[in-house]
Amino acid sequence: MTLTNRQGHPITDNQNIRTVGNRGPSTLENYHFIEKISHFDRERVPERVVHARGAGAYGVFEAYGDVGGEPISTYTRAKLFQEKGKQTPVFVRFSTVVHGAHSAETLRDPRGFAVKFYTEEGNWDLVGNNLKIFFIRDPLKFPDMVHSFKPDPVTNLNDPERMFDFLSRTPESTHMITFLFSPWGIPANYRQMQGSGVNTYKWVNSEGKGVLIKYHWEPLAQGIKNLTQDEAEAIQAKNTSHATQDLYEAIQRGEYPEWELNVQILSDDDHPELDFDPLDPTKLWDHEKFPFLPVGKMTLNRNPENYFAEVEQAAFGTGVLVDGLDFSDDKLLQGRTFSYSDTQRHRVGTNYLQLPVNAPKSPVATNQRDGQMQFKVDLAPGQNPHVNYEPSNLGGLLEANPTGAEHEPSYDAKLVRAKLDRTNDFQQAGDTYRKFEDWEKEELINNLIDALKVSSPVIREGMIHHFTEADADYGRRVAEGLANALSNIDHLGNESMREGQNLAEQTGRSTD
Ligand code: HEM
Repeated sequence: MTLTNRQGHPITDNQNIRTVGNRGPSTLENYHFIEKISHFDRERVPERVVHARGAGAYGVFEAYGDVGGEPISTYTRAKLFQEKGKQTPVFVRFSTVVHGAHSAETLRDPRGFAVKFYTEEGNWDLVGNNLKIFFIRDPLKFPDMVHSFKPDPVTNLNDPERMFDFLSRTPESTHMITFLFSPWGIPANYRQMQGSGVNTYKWVNSEGKGVLIKYHWEPLAQGIKNLTQDEAEAIQAKNTSHATQDLYEAIQRGEYPEWELNVQILSDDDHPELDFDPLDPTKLWDHEKFPFLPVGKMTLNRNPENYFAEVEQAAFGTGVLVDGLDFSDDKLLQGRTFSYSDTQRHRVGTNYLQLPVNAPKSPVATNQRDGQMQFKVDLAPGQNPHVNYEPSNLGGLLEANPTGAEHEPSYDAKLVRAKLDRTNDFQQAGDTYRKFEDWEKEELINNLIDALKVSSPVIREGMIHHFTEADADYGRRVAEGLANALSNIDHLGNESMREGQNLAEQTGRSTD
């Protein structure tokens, strides 16, 4: 087949540009060359500001049709869940969080677990992580948190001291740090990890009644596997893309990973009987009190054909819900919901929802028009193409169509800037520490010591204070371990702590 340019013109020579004589200067009308090189010059779009490194796959979600033995319609009218065996196509993107698009997949970092359900009523995105909680509960802190985790803006070096500087002043992060520095902070790959929506959402039934919901993905046959720091370093020495490779090759072999989707349900109120607020994403909902109820199963069975088109340009957001699913007042969730589509209009472009990976598989009929890279018009069959507004008497056809009783929570409160009442920053961090097996505690303490020994005393003390508040043994072990590590550094030639950091960087003991 003949090579062409994007105008469909056959290319007569793809090896030599046009010049005045074979040694002479080139001419400006080298159309093929200029098109080719200027397209190449624009091959990159901005990478995601977080979760830049990722891998994706397609699959299917199959509903169980009930929840905890009850008809699921008691709690939600979302169509994808109603019927046993009902299948909904999905696209999933897994990711690491902090570093760039080609960073190692072995880093200690939460893992993203974002699922796009192409339902009959439009898309639903469940944008989760592997861990079930988060570092902060107020979205105003997110840019500062991410800045502290990213490389130093002057040196461009990873610096755990900056991260712990922020965290030592952010007590609500103690629970997340306890998971992150344990072996749960480095999943072995993307197939063998859990997923969680983290934030509290709502389900709404046909009467408009809401309940609070948390979502959790549990791996089925492939199980759960984490790495110790040493295991991760051994893999990283040879392969910085092991998780992408593992997912791609498993699917190519026909070993399709599967997860069960579970929900936890709480009545829609503030639950004064609990020692935390159900809208606080730094907290677990005790699964003994609030059991995991399976609602369906997801199988990933097809690799993308083109990484850039399908995985890099994929756009997920917490605002993307279908009828029967709703937001809760979880502040972090509300902040996220603005952030995703805002960044995607910048990262991918105004019409990012027209790209095949992002477009719903159900009909789309809007009055939105134009903007960079619009390549089709969202017209309904029979719609007058002159009418791109509503209401109209001229055959516009499109009008709003209420789907069911609205969920209408009511409020009687002052407009304030204030934390939730029951912050309880340390109790669950201590519970999680005490539940770890001995080897997990050992790993956690060693990883923390390794990261904290390069921090200033005020930061170390702040962190030890948080760990001690969580559990006295936890705080004592970190404090003693740090004292030992620092006296060893002193013995080995009286190095300053900054030199200790250099040592840590040279040996690749990065904390991020
Ligand atoms: C990606 C913002 C918290 C999971 C992103 C992106 C932004 C962002 C701007 C890049 C999106 C893109 O370029 O397409 C925020 C803000 C947060 C927050 C402002 C808190 C206020 C969380 C939490 C989770 C999470 C709590 C987990 C439940 C993800 C995932 C991605 C992502 C999985 C990658 C999606 C993909 O694969 O394309 N986030 N995020 N984020 N975030 Fe968040």
